[in-house]
Amino acid sequence: MSCINESEIKEESKRLMALGLHHRCVEGRLDQIAALTEEINRLKKEKNAVICAHVYQTPEIILGIGDFVGDSYKLADDSRHTAADIIVFCGVRFMAETAAVLNPAKKVYIPSLDAGCSLSESVTAEDVRGLKAAHPGASVVTYINTSAEVKAESDCIVTSANAEKILRRIYEKNKKVIFIPDRFMGANLAKVLGKTPGEDIILWNGSCVVHEHFDARTIALYRKNYPGVAVLAHAECPSDIINAVDYMGGTGDMMRYVENTNAAAYLLVTECGFGELARIKFPDKNFIAMCRLCPYMKAVTLENILQTLKKPSKEQLVTVPPEIAARAKKAIEKMFELAEG
Ligand code: 13P
Ligand code: SF4
Repeated sequence: MSCINESEIKEESKRLMALGLHHRCVEGRLDQIAALTEEINRLKKEKNAVICAHVYQTPEIILGIGDFVGDSYKLADDSRHTAADIIVFCGVRFMAETAAVLNPAKKVYIPSLDAGCSLSESVTAEDVRGLKAAHPGASVVTYINTSAEVKAESDCIVTSANAEKILRRIYEKNKKVIFIPDRFMGANLAKVLGKTPGEDIILWNGSCVVHEHFDARTIALYRKNYPGVAVLAHAECPSDIINAVDYMGGTGDMMRYVENTNAAAYLLVTECGFGELARIKFPDKNFIAMCRLCPYMKAVTLENILQTLKKPSKEQLVTVPPEIAARAKKAIEKMFELAEG
């Protein structure tokens, strides 16, 4: 039972308004949000917990309660450097699992059991073993959007923030790479690196339910109607989209691009939470809506975060068997070494 009073809710609403959440004022919703964020922030202190929030989460999660905010790479890295005892991961399961692998002494929780990922679910450890048997000697480079079991079968993990750099380094010593599981990101990287799918880069058939469905014809239409628009797309989009945009990258790179440029408008071809955050961070820039919601990311809410902090179920605790964790950790640490080196 919450013990928050009216004046605390008013104060918290003011704080949230100052952070730019005024557009959430629909029918008293801001007060509901304030009651939740106030209690979550109080419980975080009491329990020495931190919130990692991916940029596809809602602005009330990111701005209201997030301690670490960013893309998959930054959140994995941040999770290694916190003194908290508890990490509540507001993102999807593979991200929470990565934090659990990197922090065996901490408790890592995922607020929603529905926070999966279509890419992560597209490939199993058994599939990777099959690929390795079919392509002996190839290096297995795995996108972070995979389970710990799949990571454990891999030589190195990458995120959208470092895939190109790491692949270049890996090709210095290897002729052939198995890149899993995103076939679109794999094809986009193959093009940038001058590699041939099926020959020197072996791809898997995974895709992201958010990024696979954008339509390049819509981009052409926006370009006609909004002269000077800068079009940015996430690297998980198919190549016909990537061919039509000004910039391809991960969410961290896309946000930096918006920050460091001065286009007449921005068309952000990615999950909707990214655009919501960009609008709040850069109120003087123009954004055109073209986005899709990730049902997995949006399964995390202030309500289930509060429940997790109050009384988590045993299923919300993210655990990885030690033998799998040890091998997955090696592949994740290889990523940190190659990305930072
Ligand atoms: P980023 O690492 O670019 O944030 O991507 C994560 C993700 O799930 C994109 O769909
Ligand atoms: Fe997975 Fe796509 Fe959702 Fe990212 S946006 S979590 S890749 S389904």
